[in-house]
Amino acid sequence: MNAPIKAEDQFHQLIHQNHMWGLWEIASQMTPHPRPEAIAYQWKWSILKEVVKQSATAVPVGDERRAMQLFNPGLNGQWATTNTLIAAVQVLLPGEVARAHRHSPAAIRFIIQGSGAYTAVEGEKVIMHPGDLVLTPSWQWHDHGNETSETVVWMDGLDVPLTKALNAIFFEMGKELRAQNTKPVNGSQALYGHGRLSPTWTKERPQFSPLMLYSWDQTLSALHALRAREGSPYEGIALEYTHPQTGGPVMPTISCRVQMIRKGEKLKARRVTGSSVFHVVQGRGRSMIDGKAFDWEKGDIIALPSWALHAHANSGTEDAILFSISDRPVIESLGFYREQTE
Ligand SMILES: [Fe+2]
Repeated sequence: MNAPIKAEDQFHQLIHQNHMWGLWEIASQMTPHPRPEAIAYQWKWSILKEVVKQSATAVPVGDERRAMQLFNPGLNGQWATTNTLIAAVQVLLPGEVARAHRHSPAAIRFIIQGSGAYTAVEGEKVIMHPGDLVLTPSWQWHDHGNETSETVVWMDGLDVPLTKALNAIFFEMGKELRAQNTKPVNGSQALYGHGRLSPTWTKERPQFSPLMLYSWDQTLSALHALRAREGSPYEGIALEYTHPQTGGPVMPTISCRVQMIRKGEKLKARRVTGSSVFHVVQGRGRSMIDGKAFDWEKGDIIALPSWALHAHANSGTEDAILFSISDRPVIESLGFYREQTE
């Protein structure tokens, strides 16, 4: 004879069948601190380089860009490098054009190799060189073209997982391969690329930075100008790329930073709310992330989940430079920012 079903079990059946769960059944999800499903993960340049090389002959640049998306192994096949950001490595061969399109997720490009190709953003052709940061903000038409004789490679960074979580993804493919060039080449740099000096006659104050190109020359000279300073004990000589009119982040959802970890420098450990993706621009080093060592060199890309205890150190013979994107503007504007040091 079957034992009679207890009233408590009957009650649970009733609520589950009707799409309800007791808080007592799920309370463990209210964790004392963030417990991301994304893991710290490193894509080594030695592998990326091979992928870049083989991609050139294995796949064409069709309507979809030749961009290899970095999927976080902790996120079960989701289109995500961290819970909020996707990073990719994109390749454009001589003579290729990636069709014009626009999307609500905001995107940045950090140029890894190849000089002189362009990204056209809302009618402005932006010429790209290694180390440059190029923006394609939310819903701005953009296409990429390589009129040079060398292969161009860059890292893409987008807020796709965040936009998706908010059910705010929009996408539109252009009718023409290339958008019309309606503005001067590198025009936004001529207008807004003078630090805290901005033109008074331009009336637009977009939420995203109106400066589409942050050139490596300027970035590197700023890092060198500050090299002798103490800097941050956690980040070294760390700089944020800013909106020239507001001083805020370059996008409402993405902060872009660059940091120099000087030869011999060993930074202190810290955890912060929000996730990041790092790209090694130069040098070698070791990052300890939640007790695990990640030895990195030029070209590597590393995902850093929220609240992971991390400390970077230079282990090479020259200054190391890391570029990174993070969701910090979202975290800060919602009042969720916290940090903890050991
Ligand atoms: Fe795009």
